[in-house]
Amino acid sequence: MHHFRYDEAGVLCAEGVPLPVIARAVGTPVYVYAAATLRRHYRVFRDALHGLDSLIAYSLKANPNLSVLRLLADLGAGADVVSGGELDRAQRVGIPPERIVFSGVGKTESEIGEAVAADILQFNVESVAELAVINRVAGQAGRRAPIAFRVNPDVTAGGHAKIATGHRSTKFGVPIDRARELYARARAMPGITVTGIDVHIGSQILDAAPFRSAFGAVVELAAQLRADGHDIRVIDVGGGIGIPYGAQPGLAPETYADVVRATLGTGTRLVFEPGRLIVGNAGMLLASVLYMKEDSERRFVILDAAMNDLLRPTLYGARHQPVVVQRPDGQADHRTCDLVGPVCESGDIFAEDVLLPPLAAGDLVAFGTAGAYGAVMASEYNSRPLVPEVMVSGERFGVIRRRPTREESLALEEPFSVEADAVEGSP
Ligand SMILES: Cc1ncc(COP(=O)(O)O)c(C=O)c1O
Repeated sequence: MHHFRYDEAGVLCAEGVPLPVIARAVGTPVYVYAAATLRRHYRVFRDALHGLDSLIAYSLKANPNLSVLRLLADLGAGADVVSGGELDRAQRVGIPPERIVFSGVGKTESEIGEAVAADILQFNVESVAELAVINRVAGQAGRRAPIAFRVNPDVTAGGHAKIATGHRSTKFGVPIDRARELYARARAMPGITVTGIDVHIGSQILDAAPFRSAFGAVVELAAQLRADGHDIRVIDVGGGIGIPYGAQPGLAPETYADVVRATLGTGTRLVFEPGRLIVGNAGMLLASVLYMKEDSERRFVILDAAMNDLLRPTLYGARHQPVVVQRPDGQADHRTCDLVGPVCESGDIFAEDVLLPPLAAGDLVAFGTAGAYGAVMASEYNSRPLVPEVMVSGERFGVIRRRPTREESLALEEPFSVEADAVEGSP
């Protein structure tokens, strides 16, 4: 469910704002988010978890824009962070430290120091080497860091190999069959307090079965660890709930919550780390047609948006449903075309063999389900400016990240003069 709809004139709107209004004011390409959808998704998920002692720690990696975060923080969300930068963002919008968990396989010593100083809820630890650094850093600060091991239950799940994290061959987590030994080691460390267990098996998971088997394994482990004398207060079940992209249905939050209830029960504090579920369908990428190229074998619609603005189609073969912003009057003759960007890569393709009404230069096209892993993955490849972001609420909209100027894009570069005719290897 989202809040992008056609009005009576056949113009696509985000809540009460026609997308052409945003295109004229901000230019294209631009991401547009609907605040009403963000709020709705958060509430639907929270309501599905009724009766559970739960914390929704929104996974910032999906979309860390401060305005998105502020809205979710106001609704009571916590944060799942994977870097010092994300921790800083969570703190800036006032998410209390006891609602923040720190995930990721490569936390640096200084990031660990920041999180120890912030007194966060839990470090989700991914290796013995990382545990040793957390122990040292916390010890030096005269503290004990609360930790959970991220266990790898050897479950295959996720919308694409690159976002499947729960099987043994990935870099994520510690093997679940080694967990008891590792927890025993952690308990002996003076800078560590064992508080929980963490699992995250992948992203865009549409089937409840892998969650059932992963959570079942975690429950068994929790019982063993408690029998070993560990005080397991928190079970963090990660994110990964699959959402609808186009016609493909998502995994209903209620179905997911039923699996949680059936496996993990109601006795333990549960942390959830949804990202895509909250922001995915709350965003669209709005682009303009630059050229119709009909003089080769295929009919190309060349847009002003490219893979540097939305990487997922190129990276994962992901499909973001394209729609025209102005519906044609009457019965238009739909034609098959490929939607591509201007970047100098053959892979700069948003969608192939799409049936769309006739398009011309200047027309607007929007891609759905672009709120998660969209703007945050954007780059300046081909020296294209970072794509801006707009938030709509009712009839109002605001630019929540503007397009940088050329000067701003160049600002970090320093001149370093080298002689053009210098001979390699000469002193
Ligand atoms: C540890 C962890 N938690 C949560 C998430 C969020 O996943 P999703 O956006 O699929 O809910 C991810 C995404 O990769 C992750 O790595």
